[in-house]
Amino acid sequence: MEKHNVIPEGFLWGAAVTSFQTEGAWNEGGKGPSIVDARPVKEGQSDWTTAVDFYHRYKEDIALFQEMGFNAYRTSISWSRIFPAGEGEVNEEGLQFYDDLFDEMLASGIQPVITLYHFDLPLALAEKYNGFASRKVVDLFDRYARTVFKRFGHKVKYWLTFNEQNLVLTNPHHWGAKLDGAENEEALRYQVTHNAFIAHAKAVKSLHELVPGGKMAGMVTYQVTYPQTCKPEDAIANMKAKELLVDFYFDVFAHGEYPSYVTKDLERKGIMPFFEEGDAELLKENTVDYLSISYYQSQTVSAEKTDDKWLISGVTPNPHLKANEWGWAIDPIGLRVCLKDMYARYRLPIFITENGIGVREELNEHNTVEDDYRIEYLSEHIKQMKLAMEEGVEVIGYLTWGSTDLISSGGQFEKRYGFVFVNRGETDMRDLKRYKKKSFDWYKQVISTNGQDLENKQNVSLK
Ligand code: BG6
Repeated sequence: MEKHNVIPEGFLWGAAVTSFQTEGAWNEGGKGPSIVDARPVKEGQSDWTTAVDFYHRYKEDIALFQEMGFNAYRTSISWSRIFPAGEGEVNEEGLQFYDDLFDEMLASGIQPVITLYHFDLPLALAEKYNGFASRKVVDLFDRYARTVFKRFGHKVKYWLTFNEQNLVLTNPHHWGAKLDGAENEEALRYQVTHNAFIAHAKAVKSLHELVPGGKMAGMVTYQVTYPQTCKPEDAIANMKAKELLVDFYFDVFAHGEYPSYVTKDLERKGIMPFFEEGDAELLKENTVDYLSISYYQSQTVSAEKTDDKWLISGVTPNPHLKANEWGWAIDPIGLRVCLKDMYARYRLPIFITENGIGVREELNEHNTVEDDYRIEYLSEHIKQMKLAMEEGVEVIGYLTWGSTDLISSGGQFEKRYGFVFVNRGETDMRDLKRYKKKSFDWYKQVISTNGQDLENKQNVSLK
């Protein structure tokens, strides 16, 4: 008798990327510059001009994704392809590019899962308005969102507003906002955070108005934290760190209001963000359909290391876990911890929209990469996801980070994530040819068995 599979039919399997980490063609097709294009390039690292040239090679790449059996692929729409200056005239060529791309995916049995905004504000909006520090940009974001909902609503069911929205408080520059010259820096951080919440809620509202059946998520990068010891002080320090790392965002997405642990603190400090008339109702009435996370790593929190200087503090590495070269601790059980915690708190479907490991790799003499470490990393995480599902958590899909290799968020190409090796270096574009890594066939087997068969068949050394 066939073993019961905890993963339901129709579960979404695939991978996730962004426009700017894959497309290249940074100034083609009428695209305007984004804040990513304007980032200074670090010595010896890649710029953003070519990425993996997905803009020109997407048909070839999608054929590979189809071969692996993907039924979902997450990417982002580049706002500055649609509105090159963030406002003004819409760029039909940009809309047409995504029309063609989504058609190609759909014809290959792959549904597009779309992030509206992944750290790539049109540069003009950063320069003119200081990004999401301004409510003007919130309105322009809504205009952009409505434009793409109208155009692509019949092709895309699952949407995400902002990638990893929980980074806005600590990294407002990803929302195009500079803090220089702020009278009260912390107050401005919270104002940008509030504006992003309002932009998010408006997008939820617009999607529900324009696209019957469209589903919108709020997304965070779920950095799991544990108390460093069983000292009660560490437990409280961990709880407080988690509130600002994760809970604040999910609480607003799912419950539609600021949690009291945040409002009390802001009132005490006298820095409650400015709520325009109607903001509270907008948040309340426009909660999300599902929750989305990226999950890579966990850390611990030590009360002794907390410090009033930082909004989130005391976070330190976990001595019990191994980390990758970039110090990201590998913790598959952490994924189960976060899934269970989220489901207990919100009872909403969860979509894992990023998970993976970055490693330096080169082709071997057989023109492949024996990436058993990636197979091990991913299979251990999928096992923990399945355990969480056995324990009652509703997970609707699992997307790895990267499918072909792509540029890392910091601009490094050699931190590779894909099942498909892309033949280029940091600055040397070589021929950009695609080569299947060992994990390609493994993931194909995982998907074809709907997550039942996670075995690494060739069983080459895991170290
Ligand atoms: C997520 C981002 O934080 O992690 C991606 O959504 C990013 O943009 C991914 O690429 C992996 O991080 P990195 O720094 O290794 O590229």
